[in-house]
Amino acid sequence: MTSVDMEYLTIALPKGKLFKPSVDLLAKAGYRADSVSESSRKLIITNEEAKLRFIITKTADLPTYVEYGAADIGIIGKDVLLEEERDVYELADLKLGLCRLMVAVPEAMRQPKLSDYAHMRVATKYPKIAEAFFHSHGIQMEIIRLNGSIELAPMVGLAELIVDIVETGRTLKENHLTEIAQIHTATARLVANRVSFKMKFERIHALVSAVKALSEGVGEA
Ligand code: PRP
Repeated sequence: MTSVDMEYLTIALPKGKLFKPSVDLLAKAGYRADSVSESSRKLIITNEEAKLRFIITKTADLPTYVEYGAADIGIIGKDVLLEEERDVYELADLKLGLCRLMVAVPEAMRQPKLSDYAHMRVATKYPKIAEAFFHSHGIQMEIIRLNGSIELAPMVGLAELIVDIVETGRTLKENHLTEIAQIHTATARLVANRVSFKMKFERIHALVSAVKALSEGVGEA
């Protein structure tokens, strides 16, 4: 059961690529966590004056913290929301951290059609999305779930393909992988716990308006 601490607004921040842009956006919107840093081992930072609490989670776990009300709101990529399928309220597209969820293979393995890869092994942090994608193309694959450094898998013979996010394309390039299909594009989303959204409506609405105004580059009342 979700219990809501009415004194503080708890904001979950994901480790990884979205961490810094999320902290910067919130600070610009007036929600500062002065000592927050990804390199620190501190996982909870409190801004006593503003009655804000920031928690730092592993990326894939963030929707779980929000669903259960351990955080009132959070910032997380749409890719993670699609994979985790947690019951959270998606409040805004922050238009940060644009990336593409791609299927990629070693350059030397490239085939003319997607179906040419049928029954091969796919390494990914996104097993549900990968399964659904290949299923929608009528292709059966063996999905191997990993937690990171996905590009390593084809280089060491763990899998033939990968499904992973591509931002700049540098990791693919440096590991001689080539994109063969795009599954989704994804940006950072502001999400809320459903109970917190009702119980702390004023505070959450104020924060949403402030970050939306910044992310859309327009003033909003
Ligand atoms: C992500 C992703 C790719 C890389 C893509 O990994 O899984 O490996 O970034 O970025 P690029 O296109 O800009 O090179 P992340 O850095 O989050 O670490 P991980 O591999 O441990 O998940």
